[in-house]
Amino acid sequence: MELIKTIDQMRSWTESQRQAGKTIGFVPTMGYLHEAHLSLVEKARAQNDTVVMSIFVNPMQFGPQEDFATYPRDLDRDCRLAEGAGVDVIFHPEPGEIYPQYPPLTAVEVKGITECLCGKSRPGHFTGVATVVLKLFNIVQPHRAYFGQKDYQQLLVIRQMVADLNLPVIIEPVPIKREEDGLAMSSRNAYLSPAERQEALALSQALQMCKNMYSNGELRVSLLIEAMKARILQEPSAVIDYIEIRHATTLAPLTEITGPAVVALAVRIGKTRLIDNLLLEGN
Ligand code: PAF
Repeated sequence: MELIKTIDQMRSWTESQRQAGKTIGFVPTMGYLHEAHLSLVEKARAQNDTVVMSIFVNPMQFGPQEDFATYPRDLDRDCRLAEGAGVDVIFHPEPGEIYPQYPPLTAVEVKGITECLCGKSRPGHFTGVATVVLKLFNIVQPHRAYFGQKDYQQLLVIRQMVADLNLPVIIEPVPIKREEDGLAMSSRNAYLSPAERQEALALSQALQMCKNMYSNGELRVSLLIEAMKARILQEPSAVIDYIEIRHATTLAPLTEITGPAVVALAVRIGKTRLIDNLLLEGN
């Protein structure tokens, strides 16, 4: 496995692969890898001749009060895990390589699907994500790129950007990976104390409860949300950021589930903000 730190070197590598007729799968990450990242690599491996993973903690997608400085980082461990999973190249640029001028004067703003859910509580977050992902696409020039469905709104934002800007890359979603007890895998789970780790189970349990109620015929959004709220608030350190049910592709608010819907939630457990979601297919 190769570790590449500069844009020039990354571009030369891509050029040589493309000249040799090889397809490139790209897994963008912020590092501190866990099994969910490795499941992205697994799909990329299966669909492409070569796999590039970027590891870059992107300052532009963190708010001023957020955890950019303390976001967990461990490049040695990440390299071992990535190599074991079959990654060919890790692209790990310094912040100054990606942002010679910070903040950049050009940014990508996706409208319409970024004002709600995480976009509402994290203003500017999706502009930071879309901007860095477009830059990474332009540097790595992959044939396919892989995004986890845990960041459901992010996946929609990237798809919208790719469609609106005619980017020559196929976006491949990968299902949420969960711990055995249901907690969605996340690098931020590392922040949780053992007691908080236990409380964090409320997120996936609330979603499961919603799914069961829905399967038993409950389609009213307000009742489903009330039930999930009650479950989450059983935990002493839980503070709800949002619990919402919206149209699965437009993110329009719903009062009743009559078609594909996403149940999305963000909850703070102590100081750690966790997100999770569930897709309901509708009738
Ligand atoms: O999902 C993430 O880890 C990040 O938002 C991404 C896509 C790597 C952009 O920084």
